[in-house]
Amino acid sequence: MTLRFLTAGESHGLCLMAIIEGMPAGLHLSEEEINVDLRRRQGGYGRGQRMKIERDKVELLSGVAKGLTIGAPIALRIENKDWANWKDRDVPPWTVPRPGHADLAGATKYGLGDLRLVAERASARETAARVAVGAVTKRLLTEFGIAIGSYVTEIGGAIAEIPDLPPQELWKRAEASDVRCPDPIVAEAMRQRIDEARAAGDSLGGIFVVVATGVPVGLGSHVHWDRRLDSRLAAAVMSIPAIKGVEIGPAFENARKRGTEVHDEIFVKLKAQSSKLKLQTSNFKRHSNRAGGIEGGISNGQPIVVRAAMKPIPTTVTPLRSVDLVTGEPATTQYQRSDVCAVPAASVVGEAMVAWVIADALMEKLGGDSIEEMKSRWK
Ligand SMILES: Cc1cc2nc3c(=O)[nH]c(=O)nc-3n(C[C@H](O)[C@H](O)[C@H](O)COP(=O)(O)O)c2cc1C
Repeated sequence: MTLRFLTAGESHGLCLMAIIEGMPAGLHLSEEEINVDLRRRQGGYGRGQRMKIERDKVELLSGVAKGLTIGAPIALRIENKDWANWKDRDVPPWTVPRPGHADLAGATKYGLGDLRLVAERASARETAARVAVGAVTKRLLTEFGIAIGSYVTEIGGAIAEIPDLPPQELWKRAEASDVRCPDPIVAEAMRQRIDEARAAGDSLGGIFVVVATGVPVGLGSHVHWDRRLDSRLAAAVMSIPAIKGVEIGPAFENARKRGTEVHDEIFVKLKAQSSKLKLQTSNFKRHSNRAGGIEGGISNGQPIVVRAAMKPIPTTVTPLRSVDLVTGEPATTQYQRSDVCAVPAASVVGEAMVAWVIADALMEKLGGDSIEEMKSRWK
């Protein structure tokens, strides 16, 4: 592990914070660039009232001087505007755990009587800090021509047929859509499903795809389980609250096919050179990418494609059956302000986690304490 980050902060606390350790010196970094991704995470059709209160903005507190990183830990902070509305409120404890949220398991583990104390940290508000961290690592990746983007393919059972277009075109279409779906017809169906779920007092999940382009061959390794790029990506994306499935490429679809239909055959790129083929990327090509850009836990030079399944939001207006932890009697959940669907926002968090893993693997590969050093090794 060459890069590390930690986040701190609760949903209605003063602020969210993160410390990033291991970023090389000499990287241009601006708060505005990070804020672009924070705004992208806040958006999306189906989000709740909270996102109308927050105006997420990052403050870079350390590790940056005159717009350049200095190799020191980067500390950053995002204010919670909602803190002012909650700090003096005398709120009764929550005692009925929401099925699907961290309430019951968290309260049991930490011995907390008030479920709010679990929810404050389990809340996906924390992912704002991750998106800020991800924006920093995206900045690093840009220096090496690596780009990360995402789009939503499914919400509440409305499934988009993703056209066979370059990832950049799909990202562009997703940016123009409030459900981050590149298919405008299905995007409309997604909005309708969200409206129907909202009217029914319910919630939805869905599927998004994160793609990384320009990733060189050789990130990650087959030699140990914890060095495999696919396992690291899966763990990072699965760490996003409510993400319950991650696949590299069309993994589950591949599982239903034969090997000859799935594996991406290898071709010589420049025929004239075939007699003296060297082990270098430019000599080979593929006509398909069903492996999702990773073979043997190593990036193979194709775009890396990570698909993630998000379960429906656990907080629903329609009560779910549960138990009151004080009385021990059956009870039903009480609605707390919540998103109906957060798949578009989750896809932006997915980009952050994918960017983080790829940046970590790139630093491992190149080493170096400054951008200059990394670039000389890159050449
Ligand atoms: C961007 C994003 C927004 C979310 N918004 C909510 C929300 O408003 N209400 C809610 O109950 N869960 C929300 N979740 C999901 C919960 O945070 C998550 O289900 C919970 O922490 C339990 O973790 P688990 O689902 O991974 O088991 C959101 C998740 C993400 C990624």
